[in-house]
Amino acid sequence: MRLPAVFLVALVLPLAACNKPAQEPAKPGEPTVAQASEQHEEAAMSSHDPNSYAEPEKVVITHVALDLNVDFAKKVLAGSNTVDLDWKDPAATTLVLDTRDLDIAKVEGFDAGAWTPLKFELADKDKIYGSKLTITLPKQMAKVKITYASRPEASGLQWLTPAMTLGKKTPFMFSQSEAIHARSWVPLQDTPGVRFTYEAHITTPKDVMALMSADNDPKAERDGDYSFKMPQPIPSYLLAISAGDLVFAPVGERAGVWAEPAMAPKAAKEFEDTEKMITTAESLYGPYRWGRYDILVLPPSFPYGGMENPRLTFATPTVIAGDKSLVSLIAHELAHSWSGNLVTNSSWKDMWLNEGFTSYVESRITEAVYGRELADMEAVIEQHGLIEDMKQIPEKWQKLAQDPLVGVDPDDASSQVSYIKGKWFLSFLEERYGRETFDAFLRKWFDSHAFTSQDSAEFERFLRAELIDKNPGKTTHEEIHEWMHGAGLPKTAKPATSTRLDAVDEARTHWLAGHMKPSDIDTSAWMTQEWVRFIEGLPQTLTEAQLAELDAAWHFTGTANVEIAQRWYPLTVRSNYLAARPAIESYLIHIGRRKLIMPTYGALVATPDGKAFAEKVFAKAKPGYHPITIASVEAAIAAGNAKPL
Ligand code: BES
Ligand code: ZN
Repeated sequence: MRLPAVFLVALVLPLAACNKPAQEPAKPGEPTVAQASEQHEEAAMSSHDPNSYAEPEKVVITHVALDLNVDFAKKVLAGSNTVDLDWKDPAATTLVLDTRDLDIAKVEGFDAGAWTPLKFELADKDKIYGSKLTITLPKQMAKVKITYASRPEASGLQWLTPAMTLGKKTPFMFSQSEAIHARSWVPLQDTPGVRFTYEAHITTPKDVMALMSADNDPKAERDGDYSFKMPQPIPSYLLAISAGDLVFAPVGERAGVWAEPAMAPKAAKEFEDTEKMITTAESLYGPYRWGRYDILVLPPSFPYGGMENPRLTFATPTVIAGDKSLVSLIAHELAHSWSGNLVTNSSWKDMWLNEGFTSYVESRITEAVYGRELADMEAVIEQHGLIEDMKQIPEKWQKLAQDPLVGVDPDDASSQVSYIKGKWFLSFLEERYGRETFDAFLRKWFDSHAFTSQDSAEFERFLRAELIDKNPGKTTHEEIHEWMHGAGLPKTAKPATSTRLDAVDEARTHWLAGHMKPSDIDTSAWMTQEWVRFIEGLPQTLTEAQLAELDAAWHFTGTANVEIAQRWYPLTVRSNYLAARPAIESYLIHIGRRKLIMPTYGALVATPDGKAFAEKVFAKAKPGYHPITIASVEAAIAAGNAKPL
């Protein structure tokens, strides 16, 4: 196919930032930032995000100003969102926003110094995408204000009663906007292809502290009236809020922990290496551009391990193991400050640009701070997980660069393919080109695309121009194509190895063959990863006597280590080891992180007896679960199995 010359220019130019704050002047012969950015937008026009109703080719939101009250009694956020608009299409006079389960009270437009009411239409709800909000303007206006309230069932919010918190005295709420849940608490263009700066005025009951993915002040007075600013342009999925009995504990000059009072000291100790992680990442990929890096420790119902909300990572308390063995999660969320938050996938089909890059950067941080042995153990475990999951993932979703997610919920399209196959691809490139060259290349990707949203095609173009063509003979076109566009794993995928995990495999083999008792195995220095490997390598089922022998030696049933529990409980279910049932019940009721509980639900719902037990436990657990977790468990019960996460 021949493309018009203008279009080709748009595709091959280094894409300049939309909303990029600090710009270097263009060199002679190069396009100005404004020209390049217009060309970028032209290219973006042809690839509308199918997971959003917004029409960024006509108009984009450049700034969001929230004024919201946190109403714990009603479980709603109510107030207004005022958006600044940049009109792209001279003929356009409608503004289309994404919403889900929002009650819209009124919409006004600002023009010639005055607010006037605007006509709007809220479409019927689509199950996946929510309700399209179409606002009709008499002419292009600079600002539109939407007065609205969220509903108690908002998919992106969880409301906890005081009884569901550690302190038992103060209610708690938090958001989870990725992938497309921001629209359930703010009407906006809910696509990662649009970036905006934001400010917020948040009111709460007087004894409640509010935080956002913005400039939280560790010394802020707790008075129920808070103001926030996020001066760097971010995509909607990074909009975040939390409110509760939250106190601050510093862990370094730029880093700290927010948590309920009983959790704060433990969390600060566990995450004490955060500052070291930041300086490590900076030495590899350039300055941390977001000011502070704080971590908010949420209640155990948080449906994810971590969420990279800018300046304020949200984290599950289940990674606080007491021995720092799970703090790679912080390395991961911090890594998103470059891969994801600075350079963002422009739609969810290219999620590997966020998660695969981040998993790679995470392992570089882990290696630098905790050593190669831990990074290798993690790589082996992850690759094993990917290969297992891939057996259940349809071929079309095994590609890094996916087809547009038309009619698909992006939460369903996310899998270990984006994370671990993506990481594996970058490790492959690192190996072929050498660390020095590859590190410089990756840093350039971040620097030259900072504060923009990008897709796989742009990465492929950049890869060819900046790595492959400049260092000929290291990879072939076919190899790169197979990694980015092929299903399964390429032939060139070299498995990670770990001598420590090899030793675990050997011990397990001896135990299974009856040559060794658990007490013959020296586990005194085993880390979480070694226990995980031991369990993952066991057969699909064991006898009751075998399970009881392991329990007697190592007390897996009832373990406080969630990575062990996540693997042990499904094994006990498959083996019909009923002794574990009470511990499973309390585990499933206490924890809402999907990755930790879905494998156990999946194993349970596969048999009629297990399913009955799962339904009974779910009925008790449901009031404490997040809407995202509830949806996953209900889907598993209906399907008789759980999809890999
Ligand atoms: N950004 C993700 C969480 C996410 C992905 C939420 C897709 C919604 C849709 C976050 O950075 C993440 O990857 N969290 C992982 C932890 C990590 C150590 C692999 C998780 O929650 O398990
Ligand atoms: Zn991530």
